[in-house]
Amino acid sequence: MLRLEEITPENLPDAVNVKVAPQQERFVAPVLNSLAEAYASRETAWPRLVYDGERAVAFIMGNFDPGHEIEAFRCGIWRLNVAGDAQGKGYGRFAVDAFLEEARKRGNARATVLWEQGEGGPEGFYLRLGFRPTGEVLFGETVGAIEL
Ligand SMILES: CC(C)(COP(=O)(O)OP(=O)(O)OC[C@H]1O[C@@H](n2cnc3c(N)ncnc32)[C@H](O)[C@@H]1OP(=O)(O)O)[C@@H](O)C(=O)NCCC(=O)NCCS
Repeated sequence: MLRLEEITPENLPDAVNVKVAPQQERFVAPVLNSLAEAYASRETAWPRLVYDGERAVAFIMGNFDPGHEIEAFRCGIWRLNVAGDAQGKGYGRFAVDAFLEEARKRGNARATVLWEQGEGGPEGFYLRLGFRPTGEVLFGETVGAIEL
């Protein structure tokens, strides 16, 4: 049974323990860094943990900042980390779907994500889920978008 949890003092150690495979570390920041950023951006950040039963298997952080000057940062996935030994089981898709549902609830018509190109990177995953490159590159990363 998969479920989404907000970050609490109780599940913080579980969150920090969600670690991608070593060769994937260049594609995403550690959860600890993301949580520090979530604290600093608590008006807009949407950090959540995915549990499969007792185990935290994934972390996602969205950002909802409708007034942001850059369109790609108004409603988007900021971070997504699935534990290295828990990948390929639908947890990433579950996390993204939960984010997209939240985005819809907030009245957004479009959501974005930025990914780094490279062997072993997440591009194929986002394409599989329906995101399409917009043609923009921001901070060296490909911008992908999906209509909601
Ligand atoms: C990319 C990542 C989030 C995918 O999570 P996951 O839980 O393994 O993915 P899922 O099992 O939910 O896969 C969903 C679908 O995408 C496909 N998929 C997953 N990774 C893929 C890839 N790299 N290339 C192509 N397809 C991929 C799966 O086969 C599955 O397809 P299906 O629904 O037809 O069976 C995970 O590998 C990860 O955490 N990577 C390291 C960190 C990272 O790159 N994060 C993104 C930062 S922007």
